[in-house]
Amino acid sequence: MLKVFEAFSGVGAQCMALRNLKQDYKIVATCDIDEAAVIAYYYVHASTKNSRKKYDDKKKQKFIINRGIGSKSKIKKMSSESLDVLFRAVDVCNNLGDITKLDVKDIPDHDLFTYSFPCQDISSVGTQKGLDIGSGTRSSLLWECKKIIEGKKPKYLLLENVKNLTTGKNRKNFNDWLEYLEKQGYTNYWKIFDAKDYGIPQRRPRVIVVSKYGKCSTDLIKDNELTIKKDINDIIDFNEKGWKKFIPKSEIKGSVKVGQYAFLDDRDWKINGVMIGKVCSTQRAGRTGLKLIKNENGQLFERKLNALECCRLMGYEDSDYYNMKNGKLSDGQIMKICGNSIVVNVLMNVFQNIYEEEKL
Ligand SMILES: C[S@@+](CC[C@H](N)C(=O)[O-])C[C@H]1O[C@@H](n2cnc3c(N)ncnc32)[C@H](O)[C@@H]1O
Repeated sequence: MLKVFEAFSGVGAQCMALRNLKQDYKIVATCDIDEAAVIAYYYVHASTKNSRKKYDDKKKQKFIINRGIGSKSKIKKMSSESLDVLFRAVDVCNNLGDITKLDVKDIPDHDLFTYSFPCQDISSVGTQKGLDIGSGTRSSLLWECKKIIEGKKPKYLLLENVKNLTTGKNRKNFNDWLEYLEKQGYTNYWKIFDAKDYGIPQRRPRVIVVSKYGKCSTDLIKDNELTIKKDINDIIDFNEKGWKKFIPKSEIKGSVKVGQYAFLDDRDWKINGVMIGKVCSTQRAGRTGLKLIKNENGQLFERKLNALECCRLMGYEDSDYYNMKNGKLSDGQIMKICGNSIVVNVLMNVFQNIYEEEKL
């Protein structure tokens, strides 16, 4: 049984990958501060479970606010029903909340610690403020993970972030982090994984570092045979309407044949032109607007990707989308969650290596 602490948990792509592999695992704790992500996590992974705590509304509010989850003023104004949903989500998923406030004594023992910390200050389309220790940027939350690594010494660690972490001015911090892990006794493996090479038609290059305490027998980042291979036709929700005539904004790169569909990205049309292809550009939390294009008898039509399609592009099951809808999340919230997340198929590849290592 692999016991997991899923930090910066979001909707729990890590947990989805473990679930899909049908191996023995248990999530012993999560941590996140975003109300929508916390609710999404609960509805996707644990909605049949209820809290055993018999708290009144005041005590529920205090419980959530003390963990630094959501907005204090909003929580104080919540209806009893909404408060109960958030309370259940936090308690059942053992969401420890804000990592900066987290006391290591409250973290159960675990074998795998996953830390896909915020990328906003590292990403090429983000603030570029970096992740220096003490800088107070969201990406510098990486350094908060030291107290968990030193206090709990999990057997395996999994870091995920944008490719930019390994380049330019971020490279020094990346090297320092790897060196820090080595000094703590870990063996590190890292690589840029692009979702398009792991059976999902999305360009999403992400760095993953897998570390093991002590020596390792398996290459923890090796590629395994793909069990799931999806193309654009597996992503499209053919029930979705709302197609409109395509009027190109600028020069078009790529094409779509008669009777076929393609992805369309005109978000940066002034810089890159309009791009059409069978693999879509990276989904991003703050910048939705990826589209589909179809060629019907020589006429071109376009529409935006819907939230179900965005989930499919992250390797989620359709039921994950419908579970999030059961939690009353809007399609906009779901698309933001997708943009922040990790492609499940990539994680499955990595976790397979960890299970293999465990058997040796
Ligand atoms: C890149 S996303 C990780 C998404 C996740 N891997 C998934 O599968 O959806 C980073 C997450 O860190 C959370 N976060 C930001 N600040 C945090 C903090 N101080 N403590 C804990 N989580 C935080 C964000 O709300 C966001 O969900």
